[in-house]
Amino acid sequence: MVKIAPSILSADFARLGEEVARVEKAGAEWLHIDVMDGHFVPNLTFGAPVVEKIRPHSDLFFDCHLMVDNPSSMIDDFAAAGADCIVVHIETDKHMHRLINNIKERTSLRGENIKAGISLNPSTPLVTLEELLPELDLVLLMSVNPGFANQKFIPATLSKITRLRAMIEECGSKAEIQVDGGINKETAPAVIKAGADILVAGSAVYGAPDIVAAIAALRG
Ligand code: DX5
Ligand code: ZN
Repeated sequence: MVKIAPSILSADFARLGEEVARVEKAGAEWLHIDVMDGHFVPNLTFGAPVVEKIRPHSDLFFDCHLMVDNPSSMIDDFAAAGADCIVVHIETDKHMHRLINNIKERTSLRGENIKAGISLNPSTPLVTLEELLPELDLVLLMSVNPGFANQKFIPATLSKITRLRAMIEECGSKAEIQVDGGINKETAPAVIKAGADILVAGSAVYGAPDIVAAIAALRG
């Protein structure tokens, strides 16, 4: 079954602990944590100290999406703060192989290896992943240009998911496919059909009057 990862970017930051607990109670499997630095993307959110503060409020799998320049400088801090998975953008570092293995060598606060993921902007071709795919736990395909919640899903992502699924099967990678941006009950069925394993949803979850129903609706 597809996993749902609500994005706290659309949560009420004044009540963040409660907002995190709320989606766990509503049946989400992962928590998507959007870290933005105002450089790689034109928006600024929060860093590892906020992750550390919300960690005691939830047992959810903490999926940290780093939309930052120079992500290698932040890996230690996110590991110590309680990340279960760290996702970095392929557009940000020349030495992705080293960075990915650096992430995988870290141990989470649960005592497990931290999972490593790579994210691709809509304009970044899949071929850039080819050599890395066997090493990855996760590939995050952006289905909007990163930086903001509540944007419109880019339809070309569907073919990218299908092609990525074929690449994963061909090389025998265990990487899961996550899709992020513009996911709602209208766009989710095609994304699942194309081969996604994990759906990120910000406004479709936190903007809904009934989040239990909203999460169920995303599963189709
Ligand atoms: C966009 C972020 C997304 C965002 C998704 O830059 O990476 O995770 O929160 O928000 P929605 O689901 O509203 O498009
Ligand atoms: Zn995200």
